[in-house]
Amino acid sequence: MPDPLDALRSEGDVNLSPHRSAWSAAQVGTETQRLLDEDARRFLHQSLSTPCLNVLRRAEGAWIEDAEGRRYLDFHGNNVHQVGFGHPRVIAAIKDQLDTLSFCTRRYTCEPAIDLARRLTELAPGDLSRVLFAPGGTSAIGMALKLARVATGRFKFVSMWDSFHGASLDAISIGGEAVFRKGIGPLLPGCEHVPPPEPLKCPFRCGHACNLSCADYVEYVLQKEGDVAAVIGETVRCTPFIPPPDYWKRIRAACDRHGALLILDEIPIGLGRTGRMFACEHYGVVPDMLVLGKGLGGGVFPLAALLARESLNVATHTALGHYTHEKNPVACAAGIATLDVIRDESLVAHAAELGAHALVRMREMADRHPLIGDIRGLGLLMGIELVKPGTDGRPIPATDAAERVMYAALGRGLNFKVTMGHILTLTPALTITRSELEKALQILDVCIGEVEATLSQIPDPA
Ligand SMILES: Cc1ncc(COP(=O)(O)O)c(C=O)c1O
Repeated sequence: MPDPLDALRSEGDVNLSPHRSAWSAAQVGTETQRLLDEDARRFLHQSLSTPCLNVLRRAEGAWIEDAEGRRYLDFHGNNVHQVGFGHPRVIAAIKDQLDTLSFCTRRYTCEPAIDLARRLTELAPGDLSRVLFAPGGTSAIGMALKLARVATGRFKFVSMWDSFHGASLDAISIGGEAVFRKGIGPLLPGCEHVPPPEPLKCPFRCGHACNLSCADYVEYVLQKEGDVAAVIGETVRCTPFIPPPDYWKRIRAACDRHGALLILDEIPIGLGRTGRMFACEHYGVVPDMLVLGKGLGGGVFPLAALLARESLNVATHTALGHYTHEKNPVACAAGIATLDVIRDESLVAHAAELGAHALVRMREMADRHPLIGDIRGLGLLMGIELVKPGTDGRPIPATDAAERVMYAALGRGLNFKVTMGHILTLTPALTITRSELEKALQILDVCIGEVEATLSQIPDPA
């Protein structure tokens, strides 16, 4: 029997499962429960948000602390914590900026916005030399879609099933997760979806050695449609799904052959997480547009950026964003301080080095734990896929076990999310120390071992 919660599991672990209830009953104290009840009373309920797990009172560096004083290494952080939480240089830059110019009224510009735009274009690959800021990733994606339509005179998009580009109507039209799309009614016309480069679920059945049939299929769709404005994808899906080395080169070439633009969404993974400043650098491609967000505001301010090629500065008579906070000086000061910290603390190299170490440790864990089907990692974007044998002996997702590992780890002070139901998704602050990372890996090792030991007693219903 399929679990009705499965449709919700693509983006993260669900908050309505029996394991969640058991965790809450055991861990939530009276005062915390009062706040959780008040939260549930005040906010509109939506999928995955209410009931909340817990109440936070502090966040610092790689750590969060709950209202009862328990500390957790945060390997989730919504990917806003490239420079860790509350980095002193980011906080100082924000305070300084608040004392001078706290907002930039439309028709004016300001130095922090100009400086941040210049800094981003200097870092970006190729000729991504034009910028627009937005108050969130979803809005920046919306601007990218509009610019692609204006620049090409076409309206169609090709994107991936299971992808996420934000929760607004335009973003869910190109997104591929049922939890956002189902029951919402008509979406944008002309949005074609293709399978993501995810071997375990690949309809082309290439197995673990991806033969790029999925990339070739993108070209097939571009050719059949004939008038696609852009292909849009997450360079590396934050699950993570890490495409093979030639994947984006092949799609870049297909886009060029068929007059489509290539838009890469690096909202959660840009700015160093993968061990390169931008993930597309791993693949040797320059997109026509690159979308950044999340940690760009230093983990404090909502801030996103659309970077576009010089030749795409063509929408002079269309308002692409026109957002009230388009040039917010405080958000931009936070962004500049964030780039300074990434540079001065060598966080990109640190992410590459610690990520390589973690991969070795996770591979060694995989050798000892039959529950681990695969491990993935690119810098400090890591994933541990949990599987169990299906009725035909082939591995299938171990959804129940993944959730149990997650709650066991929480109990030991490690916070992360489970994606697609069975992938432990691990994204720590890039400022994390080697010993903090080691501590987290040890917690995972113990928790996976504990859950494995009980597997013969508690059958996985999935
Ligand atoms: C790949 C990706 N694109 C877009 C978004 C939307 O960003 P925001 O929540 O800032 O609107 C997210 C957020 O999780 C994301 O992960």
